[in-house]
Amino acid sequence: MPKYKFTLNQQAIVTPDVAKDTPLLWVLRDALNLQGTKYGCGKGLCGACTVHFNGSPTRACQLPVEAASEQKITTIEGLATADKLHPVQQAWLDLDVPQCGYCQAGQIMSAVSLLENIPQPTDEQIEQMMSGNICRCGTYNRIKDAIKVAAGIKDDSIYRIDIK
Ligand code: FES
Ligand code: FES
Repeated sequence: MPKYKFTLNQQAIVTPDVAKDTPLLWVLRDALNLQGTKYGCGKGLCGACTVHFNGSPTRACQLPVEAASEQKITTIEGLATADKLHPVQQAWLDLDVPQCGYCQAGQIMSAVSLLENIPQPTDEQIEQMMSGNICRCGTYNRIKDAIKVAAGIKDDSIYRIDIK
């Protein structure tokens, strides 16, 4: 079985020996020990496994590792710098978006991609671009608000609680 080289979170990596049709999701989680990207349906339907493939949101459960060869992959672990969260992650934190949290890495990867393409999205654009990411806990309204806060089109002060 071959090894594959690609850029993962801005670093050149080489996988262990893996079959060419192994989904990237398994390579990330099992071979490279990056477990932020989640397995939900395994069929490209839920969005829990969303990563960026050359900058585009992509279902890692549907991408054979061979297709990632020599390409650029970003996972949830690659968004923050050493001392600063990505603005979308910060908005998620400020608004307490997650409930169980299982879908949230995929939600954030899709939201980052949305704002990279449409910095000031409308409600309809948010709904359309995020529609492939399922949340069984129903955090959709907070997700939408956090995207607007990250985009600077909604003030997050309404979410702050002043304790006197
Ligand atoms: S686990 Fe990949 S889309 Fe559901
Ligand atoms: S926060 Fe639980 S599935 Fe989305």
